[in-house]
Amino acid sequence: MEGITLKKLDKIKSPGGSLSFFQLGKDFDFEIKRIYYIYEFSQQNRRGFHAHKELKQVMFCPHGSIEVELDNGTEKEKYLLDCPEKILVLNRGYWREFLSLTENSILCVGASEIYDESDYIRNYDDYILWSKHEMEEKINGSAI
Ligand code: TYD
Repeated sequence: MEGITLKKLDKIKSPGGSLSFFQLGKDFDFEIKRIYYIYEFSQQNRRGFHAHKELKQVMFCPHGSIEVELDNGTEKEKYLLDCPEKILVLNRGYWREFLSLTENSILCVGASEIYDESDYIRNYDDYILWSKHEMEEKINGSAI
């Protein structure tokens, strides 16, 4: 899906274990101002159910397996974070749902902005209206 990158990082192995890394400029193009992580997923396993108007994020799953379902208002696509070497880079504006596929999965997120509830769209109908408006703005903008 446009604006989304799923990337498999190198795994640097040594006798002491494995290491992966991602960095500004090469793997993502925004400053990270906040890091948060989701763990102890409930029995229901599913969360998210919102979009961000401006926030960009890079996500990875250092333990377990998580399916990320993204929706841009016209199409949906699923991305699997099933090993520590995968990162998912998200531009602004996608409705997302997270499904933990194994017990004790952890989802880590690097975010481009500090926490701001006004950046969230938490109602799906509102999201569809917002995404249509964004699409129109984009088309009008590129027509000028
Ligand atoms: P939310 O982003 O809705 O979680 P999820 O992505 O799983 O749906 O956040 C859950 C709650 O935590 C919500 O009340 C807002 C709060 N929160 C913060 O206070 N700071 C943060 O950086 C984040 C990500 C959430």
